[in-house]
Amino acid sequence: MTSFLDIHKTSPEDLRGMIDAARAMKEARAGRPRGALDDDQPLAGRMVALIFEKPSTRTRVSFDVGVRQMGGQTMVLSGSDMQLGHGETIADTSRVLSRYVDLIMIRTFEEETLLEMAEYATVPVINGLTNRTHPCQIMADILTYEEHRGPIAGKKVVWSGDGNNVCASFLHAAGQFGFDLTFTGPPTLDPEPGWIEFARAKGVKAEIERDPVKAVTGADLIVTDTWVSMHDPESAKERRHNQLRPYQVNEALMAHANPDALFMHCLPAHRNDEATSEVMDGPHSVIFDEAENRLHAQKAIMRWCLGV
Ligand code: CP
Ligand code: NVA
Repeated sequence: MTSFLDIHKTSPEDLRGMIDAARAMKEARAGRPRGALDDDQPLAGRMVALIFEKPSTRTRVSFDVGVRQMGGQTMVLSGSDMQLGHGETIADTSRVLSRYVDLIMIRTFEEETLLEMAEYATVPVINGLTNRTHPCQIMADILTYEEHRGPIAGKKVVWSGDGNNVCASFLHAAGQFGFDLTFTGPPTLDPEPGWIEFARAKGVKAEIERDPVKAVTGADLIVTDTWVSMHDPESAKERRHNQLRPYQVNEALMAHANPDALFMHCLPAHRNDEATSEVMDGPHSVIFDEAENRLHAQKAIMRWCLGV
């Protein structure tokens, strides 16, 4: 029984095992209706709580469908509807939920909420996004890259835009899966220095390049995300847009990457802000494969957590 809290806290061997398992599970049910059960039912008799303190489409639906395909049951809980949103402590909530369910997935604001939930839970806890990281997304992205282009080790990934929670988990993955990552964006929105150091300490190149054209030259994968995340104040929107406009991923920028470079975005997107529709719907884009692969990657993550 292990929690999946972050990519940098999980061993490279275990991460690789999850990606390979996800791919095998995806292939095993290819062509079946979405609601068809998997042949094996590793979550039979298991109950999974999915807690959301922020909005979600992909995370909510992919976890729910994934649990059901594996024979388990889910309950989707909104943080504001729980006593958690009305003063009950995270520790007490965690201890109570652990008496009812076998696994907890939580999407929350502060990382401390996730960590406290995991500390007091007697069942595994999965990070479904915090202000600081989004590990499940990047597991799906690694699966997606490798399905299209083979091993990601040694490749050059470029993150263009805000050095946010999704960027952080990409930096963790760079270290754990062995690829280089160049961040391009304004200095005020750099990723946390500690995450760059984490990747470098693992022996990969993790660089900051302010010039987006220089950054994407030789890139195998270009990734971006919304310019204003769910935890960012609405008042920061205009300033962020002004700072980030030079880092929009458009066809002119994509043209400087390798000819077979892929484009990723975790979604939801603000089309024609961080990336143009031409790129999002163009030949390099794998955004909907990423969304689908949330399902397969998270099924593997849940099995790893439960050891089933
Ligand atoms: N990418 C992602 O996590 O999407 P949702 O916010 O819809 O869950
Ligand atoms: N960076 C975005 C990701 C959404 C899936 C946010 O935190 O809002």
